[in-house]
Amino acid sequence: MPHPREARTVFLCQECGYESPRWMGFCPAPGCGSAQPLAETTRAPDRPSNPSWTSSRREGGPEPLQELSQLRTGGEPRIPLPSEEINRVLGGGIVPGSVSLLAGEPGVGKSTLLLQIARYLAASGGSVVYASGEESAHQIHLRSRRLDLPGDGIFLLSETDVEQILARLEESRPSLAIVDSIQTLYTRDAPSGPGSVVQVRECGLRLLRWAKQRDVPVLIAGHMTKDGSLAGPRVLEHMVDTVLYLDGEDLNAYRLLRCGKNRFGSTQEVGVFEMTGQGLTEVPDPSHTLLSQRYDRAVGSVLVPVLEGSRPLLLEVQALTSPSYAPVPRRVANGVDYNRLLMLSAVAVRRAGLDLTGQDIIVSVAGGFRVTEPAVDLGVLIAIASSLYNRPLEPGTVVLGEVGLSGELRSVPQIDRRLSESARLGMNRAVVPAAAGREATGIAHGGTSLEMVAVRTVRQAIREIWGPPGAQQDGQPEEPEWEDLE
Ligand code: TYD
Ligand code: MG
Repeated sequence: MPHPREARTVFLCQECGYESPRWMGFCPAPGCGSAQPLAETTRAPDRPSNPSWTSSRREGGPEPLQELSQLRTGGEPRIPLPSEEINRVLGGGIVPGSVSLLAGEPGVGKSTLLLQIARYLAASGGSVVYASGEESAHQIHLRSRRLDLPGDGIFLLSETDVEQILARLEESRPSLAIVDSIQTLYTRDAPSGPGSVVQVRECGLRLLRWAKQRDVPVLIAGHMTKDGSLAGPRVLEHMVDTVLYLDGEDLNAYRLLRCGKNRFGSTQEVGVFEMTGQGLTEVPDPSHTLLSQRYDRAVGSVLVPVLEGSRPLLLEVQALTSPSYAPVPRRVANGVDYNRLLMLSAVAVRRAGLDLTGQDIIVSVAGGFRVTEPAVDLGVLIAIASSLYNRPLEPGTVVLGEVGLSGELRSVPQIDRRLSESARLGMNRAVVPAAAGREATGIAHGGTSLEMVAVRTVRQAIREIWGPPGAQQDGQPEEPEWEDLE
């Protein structure tokens, strides 16, 4: 057994951080399924040679035991930011001593958001250290100019050695420390290169320890791969207090800030931003913004009140069917699940009698939003029907419901919030599953009366929207009146 002070060889999974003293081939950890075999690494000695706050050694004796009932602490102190959307996601502001991970794909706007948060703190008299291993001070300066940011109280540090960063933090004791990004950091105590699991874990631990000891919040940026996992360092997700995800479609300006984990609040909140020339600006009423860009009698367009976390959003689902010239008609899904679209078009053919033979189907959610909840099912199916029949829905109609394989409609959670949001935006008719309609009766929707059309099957929904079969296909392509768009 090697002495804890000596470096020892271990085999590590580069995805989840599973550690084994022996070579085991692929990672045996349940739910990991990494395609990379375990990598041989030298584990840093348990006690690094320099006994400072970077080491795991603690001054004095062990911590005393504390009885829970005897603890007297006030509410969690928080530093509120002058940004409603960020506060909402964080649960009211930044908690001193907390460590948050801001994860997102490269280019989504992590550095931009972090610099904006730095600005908010500096503007209220705090000082912020922004340690970047990715960009030079010059590059950050250029970005700050785009953001029209004065820069007082923000101190830049181009450094990748975590011990050096901590030394600077210890000297300056800022009110917030930002590290961009964890993948560029390294510690000399661990042997492998920056970005590896060992490095990410060791650097993360050091930052965590410093944040807790000095009661200073630390924000760490982390790159995420396309499939949603943090490139390599999933270990970090377990260590930090808060995990925030910033995502958005590449070409679309909207960015969603979600919370994957929060030790100080709910993970249900979502912040909506728009990437503009001046950085990320808040979109306080996204439904309204999206609606204002919509044409009321558009064919193949359906409004669906979805829930992003606990926040209701009225999103537009669009579908286009067109005769296919490919041997196998194509299905394209933007913002909805591809397999769900296949299932819904099969249900549309078999249970609702839609003739989709030889039709390409394209479905997309306006604004680049992604909807994963099944409540959007009926909206997708009705949008396809609308495009196929070439008939729009009556203005002011919203549609929601989960569709089953036999064409039956299932209830959706939290229908009241969805209906209130629809009523708030001036909608007057909701096509809902019969089961959900019963739950929602007798609820006032912000003064506006919302006519509830309760339906049991997709066929019935189509009948309620466009009348009995036969009346549906008028064969008269309805041209949109483009003047209306002005
Ligand atoms: P960035 O914050 O560098 O992304 P990340 O740190 O997640 O890799 O932002 C990258 C993109 O944002 C870049 O393509 C340019 C764009 N951007 C704007 O559109 N407006 C702005 O004001 C800024 C600063 C960036
Ligand atoms: Mg960046």
